[in-house]
Amino acid sequence: MTVRVGQAGLGNWGKNLARNFAELADLTWLCDADPAKRELAARYPQARWTDGFDEMLADPELEAVVIATPVPTHYSLAKQALGAGKHVFVEKPPAMRASEMEELVTLAEEHGLVLMPGHLLLYHPGVATVKELVDSGELGEIRYIYGNRQNLGVIRTNENALWSLGVHDLSVILHLVDEEPETVWAHGTSFLTPGVEDVVFCYLRFSSGKVAHMHLSWLDPHKMRRMTVVGSRKMVVFDDMELERKVTIYEKAPWKRTDSYGEWQTRSGDISIPKIPTDEPLKLECQEFLRLVSGEGDRRKVAEDGARVVRALDMLTTSLHGS
Ligand SMILES: NC(=O)c1ccc[n+]([C@@H]2O[C@H](COP(=O)([O-])OP(=O)(O)OC[C@H]3O[C@@H](n4cnc5c(N)ncnc54)[C@H](O)[C@@H]3O)[C@@H](O)[C@H]2O)c1
Repeated sequence: MTVRVGQAGLGNWGKNLARNFAELADLTWLCDADPAKRELAARYPQARWTDGFDEMLADPELEAVVIATPVPTHYSLAKQALGAGKHVFVEKPPAMRASEMEELVTLAEEHGLVLMPGHLLLYHPGVATVKELVDSGELGEIRYIYGNRQNLGVIRTNENALWSLGVHDLSVILHLVDEEPETVWAHGTSFLTPGVEDVVFCYLRFSSGKVAHMHLSWLDPHKMRRMTVVGSRKMVVFDDMELERKVTIYEKAPWKRTDSYGEWQTRSGDISIPKIPTDEPLKLECQEFLRLVSGEGDRRKVAEDGARVVRALDMLTTSLHGS
């Protein structure tokens, strides 16, 4: 049966979500606090329009709510929707405090509802390939991971580079290592807007001994969307700027020759480029939400994984601001 979905927020990103849910589900409501967005909503004549979130939630036929509004509104809108008995897909990050996210997870669990954060990269076929390489042991023991998310712009003035850019890489790093960081450090500087860090460097250490680093910046000459995973046997790079070589596997590793008095040597073997499906990650993400709503998959894990990201963001923010 098709899921009846209502969406709040028809801005730059929300319109992509609406396009997908109109195709994959029964999009019965569109809601935006800005009445001017009614024009955009008219593209979907099957959906009723409102500028009041409460009016949409009051529809007893509505099963699921998609939230694509600005970050500071996510927690209260998601809480209201869960309280009204609706399944929730909420753009990243679902909350700005770990305690708020825990509250949402508990609420979803108590009501038996889906709470899925919009961590788009987790549905990228390239990231899925890297995850398979990590989980299958092909890379050996994971030593460290680092992410580069840099560009000149888009310059934000109300959200720093950690919250705007870092949330993507953090969700992927935690997905790959499947652990909570034990210790984190974040250092950043605001050059353009007082109090809003344009450049942030983060370091995370896990109890298994793995470490991770993120370089986040919108003040950079390079446009980079890259994640590098260094294993004891092989190394892999996921590069989202590449069209045809999104994932590259390097058979490179250090090793010790028995006849060389324990000195480290390095070995460089084949470099391979697996074929990555070109499916749109956003469509796969929307399909996963609908699958969870229809009772398939592990809805509890999806919510818990989202909480792990918010907890790490909270720790990094404390380190960044030194309190
Ligand atoms: N997953 C991704 O790759 C990705 C990419 C871009 C943005 N996002 C996320 O999507 C969300 C929206 O970003 P955007 O760039 O579309 O922002 P935007 O400012 O363009 O749009 C937000 C819309 O929400 C509306 N709105 C605000 N408060 C509302 C409320 N209480 N009820 C109903 N509507 C309300 C605004 O009028 C606006 O139309 C953000 O959380 C952002 O982090 C995710």
